[in-house]
Amino acid sequence: MSKNFNIAILGCGTVGSGVAKILLDLDHDLHLRAQKKIVLKKIVDLFPSKSAQQYQLPLNLFCGGGKDLTKEEASAFTKEILEDKEIDLVVETIGGTSDYLFNVMISALKNGKHLVTANKAMLAERGEEIFNTAIENNVSLGYEASVCGAIPIIKAIRESFTGDKVLEISGIMNGTSNYILSKMKEDGLSFDEALSMAQKAGYAEADPTLDISGGDAAHKLTILLRLAFGAQVKYDHLYKEGINSLTKDDLDLANEMNCTLKLICFAKQTNQKIYAAVRPMMVKNENILSKVNGATNCVEILNQYSGKHHFVGKGAGSLETASSIVGDIIFAARYDKQITNIPEEVSFELADADSVVLPYNITFVTEDYPGITGLVTTAIGRQQINIDTVSHNRHTPEKSKAVFSIATMPCSLSQIKKAIADIKASAPGIMKEEPKIIPILN
Ligand code: HSE
Repeated sequence: MSKNFNIAILGCGTVGSGVAKILLDLDHDLHLRAQKKIVLKKIVDLFPSKSAQQYQLPLNLFCGGGKDLTKEEASAFTKEILEDKEIDLVVETIGGTSDYLFNVMISALKNGKHLVTANKAMLAERGEEIFNTAIENNVSLGYEASVCGAIPIIKAIRESFTGDKVLEISGIMNGTSNYILSKMKEDGLSFDEALSMAQKAGYAEADPTLDISGGDAAHKLTILLRLAFGAQVKYDHLYKEGINSLTKDDLDLANEMNCTLKLICFAKQTNQKIYAAVRPMMVKNENILSKVNGATNCVEILNQYSGKHHFVGKGAGSLETASSIVGDIIFAARYDKQITNIPEEVSFELADADSVVLPYNITFVTEDYPGITGLVTTAIGRQQINIDTVSHNRHTPEKSKAVFSIATMPCSLSQIKKAIADIKASAPGIMKEEPKIIPILN
């Protein structure tokens, strides 16, 4: 067996401490798997005694001997690690997208160290230079933990699907949103009630904005777009819509149409263009994604030759996410300097959302008098949109409103927009709210 493979962990919170625990617990197995002894040399964390507590990590692994550090002290220890020729790999589990952290990651790579990170926000928002620096320095950049925690989706696409071509990705990649929608459906809760349950259960952050706005899922989809399609989509350019405007009525209507509302990361190739969005979709109840409940994640990959694959598992959690990081450590230790980073050169354009052909569900809230449904369906037909199903009409006499959904066969959003404009022009004032348009996932 060859020389030891030395690791330093920067940031020992929920995930970092899990990494340290697994490295210590599985020491013997990891040695065999990597054909090298994996040695956890150093941990930098501001509050070692607190961080060490959950898994009883030895305090002597922490820089500073276990005493709390100031930010300046932590930076100085980090700098030492980045310059230490004995350290082969740095695990970054600090999180965030600060310039300081960005520079730490770049320095680690430039100093010839492999880097493993769970930092989806950094890779999605500022990843280009990080990926390129890893390529230029011929070191491994492991980021399995950044997309859906414990699920080995990065390796599947990067290693296992190299003999195929990814055509479509659809996935539930935010456990918090999925937990909230599941509770709304199963227990008839409102969005606010379900969010509060998610917070009590420890899924949602105190500030859950990134989860419920689709931002967290969009970070993950941005990373997968690069890997699956070679598409360097800017995070800011990705369409994102969260679940915060969904109501119990929306879930009921979806149910009537034999669908379940889910926050979906969706991407597909259409004529050399890529359509990508994070948004609520009405998932047909025959689709496996409709049955994935609670905080579980599920990614469906449709390949040209091998067809559909489903990856289901834990998208978050200390040891769950840490297991992905340790997997990346073993990969880097095994291949070390023999790794070859091949840059993918792909030119692509993002497809215009209005022209993408999908089945849609349109929910109308209109005045309630005879002939309205006919008027609406006729206008839809005039745009050459084939209707699949019309829901039953919910009459709310006290407000004289009618609420109903129309599920279409595949059509473009621009056809639907024209139909809505047509209805507004031919019967001004009949629509009491802007129609809600949600794509359907078969
Ligand atoms: N907050 C995320 C989720 C996990 O709810 O799935 C980390 O990305």
